[in-house]
Amino acid sequence: MNQNNPTNSPLPQGPNLPKHSDLPQGPAKRVAVRAMFDAIAPRYDLLNRMLTFGMDRRWRRKAVRTLHLPKGAQVVDIACGTGDFCQDLEAAGLQAVGIDLSAGMLASAQQRHQAGKLKAPLVLADALCLPLHSRSADGITCGFALRNVVALDALFAELARVLRPGGRASLLEVAEPSNRLLRAGHQLYFAKAVPKIGGWLSDSAAYQYLPKSMAYLPPTAELLSMLKAQGFSKVTHQQLSGGITQLITATRTTPTPSTEDLLKREQGAVEIYL
Ligand SMILES: C[S@@+](CC[C@H](N)C(=O)[O-])C[C@H]1O[C@@H](n2cnc3c(N)ncnc32)[C@H](O)[C@@H]1O
Repeated sequence: MNQNNPTNSPLPQGPNLPKHSDLPQGPAKRVAVRAMFDAIAPRYDLLNRMLTFGMDRRWRRKAVRTLHLPKGAQVVDIACGTGDFCQDLEAAGLQAVGIDLSAGMLASAQQRHQAGKLKAPLVLADALCLPLHSRSADGITCGFALRNVVALDALFAELARVLRPGGRASLLEVAEPSNRLLRAGHQLYFAKAVPKIGGWLSDSAAYQYLPKSMAYLPPTAELLSMLKAQGFSKVTHQQLSGGITQLITATRTTPTPSTEDLLKREQGAVEIYL
């Protein structure tokens, strides 16, 4: 089994290929993404609040509400970063587990434990090979990480594996407004202001990469059909804040893959608890 492509799913092809030829691919992308988030972790929250004018908090709270899960439900936050989503899930009475590839980001999340703001277990793992039993989660959240994984098909297959039948997923990602004027302003802000501010307060290379990384995202229609192909139904798409962010929700369809198939996919999983 290929360690960097643990589910042995094909890497993105055709329309999924980024338009920027200088963006890393495959195993090199995974290494670059992890190093980048390790580097920006200490100031990630500050930059996030500044660059989104605090709107990121509202987006996550909306994503939690759209899960429509009862109190006490178990929700896995994929690519949890510094723990924002986990904190919102707990505030809504849900039981959260945070999973991320970057030890630096998880160390920042750990500080919320120490400050008594967070209880969620934090797990260092790749979202493409989750150390979780099949059909074990009632819900999944994922904030602003779809464009960071090496293979979206493999990610969606993993989400489908760990969600119980009827389980819910709420995925947030950056987007481009459909309105021409808004899009032009947004492009200017994302391509010029974000790298400048990021460079002043954090890591210049990382905040130059972030706008470029939008090129990894397939068009909305393709994104939604990829989810359906992996066994999701009731797939919805909403533009938030004029279209600068998108919220995708989906329900895990029954029947799920056969138990034999699920066990085969679980074999690569290793449990690491911080
Ligand atoms: C833009 S940050 C978002 C963090 C958080 N979800 C939020 O809403 O602020 C992207 C996160 O995805 C994580 N990430 C990227 N690729 C990953 C992967 N393959 N598996 C797990 N986490 C990953 C990064 O380490 C980083 O913490």
